[in-house]
Amino acid sequence: MKLTYGATVLLTAALVHGHGYLTIPSSRTRLGSEAGLDSCPECTILEPVSSWPNLNVAPVGRSGPCGYNARVSIDYNQPSANWGNTPVATYSPGQVVDVQWCVDHNGDHGGMFSYRICQNQALVDKFLTPGYVPTDAEKQAAEDCFEAGTLPCTDVTGQTCGYNPDCSQGQACWRNDWFTCNAFQADSRRACQGVDNAAQGSCYTSISGGFPVTKKIRIPNYSSSHTLLSFKWNSFQTGQIYLSCADIAISGGGGSTTSAPQSSSATTLATSTRVSTATSAASSCTVASSVAVTFNEKVTTVWGQTVKIVGSVPELGNWSPSSAIALSASQYTSSNPLWTATVNLPAGTTFQYKFIRVESNGAVSWESDPNRSYTVPKTCATNALSETSWR
Ligand SMILES: *[C@@H]1O[C@H](CO)[C@@H](O)[C@H](O)[C@H]1NC(C)=O
Ligand SMILES: *[C@@H]1O[C@H](CO)[C@@H](O)[C@H](O)[C@H]1NC(C)=O
Repeated sequence: MKLTYGATVLLTAALVHGHGYLTIPSSRTRLGSEAGLDSCPECTILEPVSSWPNLNVAPVGRSGPCGYNARVSIDYNQPSANWGNTPVATYSPGQVVDVQWCVDHNGDHGGMFSYRICQNQALVDKFLTPGYVPTDAEKQAAEDCFEAGTLPCTDVTGQTCGYNPDCSQGQACWRNDWFTCNAFQADSRRACQGVDNAAQGSCYTSISGGFPVTKKIRIPNYSSSHTLLSFKWNSFQTGQIYLSCADIAISGGGGSTTSAPQSSSATTLATSTRVSTATSAASSCTVASSVAVTFNEKVTTVWGQTVKIVGSVPELGNWSPSSAIALSASQYTSSNPLWTATVNLPAGTTFQYKFIRVESNGAVSWESDPNRSYTVPKTCATNALSETSWR
């Protein structure tokens, strides 16, 4: 069945709650929700706009590529204390990664969605500058760049890339580089929630419980110590578009391998790629040269054991366990086994690292592979956070 477009659709939009947002990697919207600032993360909506069947015709306006939540008056195109200062995930060029968004049970409007990366760092930097709200023109310029940087479903080998059942061949939505939800009206596995077909409430939404929608994307051959992954969902049922973005780093790609971390003589060091971020002309703050990075590691230990961090830079002992940095257990409890250390690191440096567990007799256990990777943000922020769990 086809809906009629026009006034009917906009009326429906006014009556239907619901909706969705990027959850993995943690979007700014998700962080806003977790910080208690955004009471409805799934309500970051661009409306009323033409969202279907042409997926790219609507200007983003103040929503920008990161979204504006009018319900709580938060503009996610600007960093704040709770998001935007540090990448939440570091990927490597060409890597295939799982991404997920969460659709609310009460507002699953069907349609299509995409993930995008804008490779123009100067445009993206407007969105990484504390205290600066990009203009609508800058938001649109970035949006155009993000659209040009759509990460095609078809780039991931083995991934099924279908056409939307609510779209007819010949319409602008007839494309399988974007991802598609299932048919808006279907007896089973309907719309976006039908994609994963997970249980209601498997991810957080504030209205009536969310359904995760999981896909894979391939990270492009591009390096940046801090950039954005933007998520865009065009609703089929309503004149609405949902935008959110996550702060990420893309590092490495040199492919050079170095000495095993087990070796105590650190003769060959892992390459540490310095990726410079162009400083925005609009920037009104000083870019920090050194950043205090706090590593929070959750691992249950027994008395006598110590957790340390060791990695490919001198500040982290050049992979030598004898030079590793010890984490503190001062905040450790049985319900929250937190080990933590703050290390000053040069801004923009990309390095690899692992946590190690050291017994009282000096015996060392390494975490399993792969190595962890981190890029120190090159922004005005003078501190950053990396939170992980032992593996
Ligand atoms: C990305 O880089 C890898 C390794 O250098 C290369 O094999 C691959 O062809 C590149 N892909 C694209 C799309 O340029
Ligand atoms: C981790 O890093 C070490 C040192 O650079 C390297 O020898 C090792 O191969 C890396 N491990 C993986 C799984 O990439």
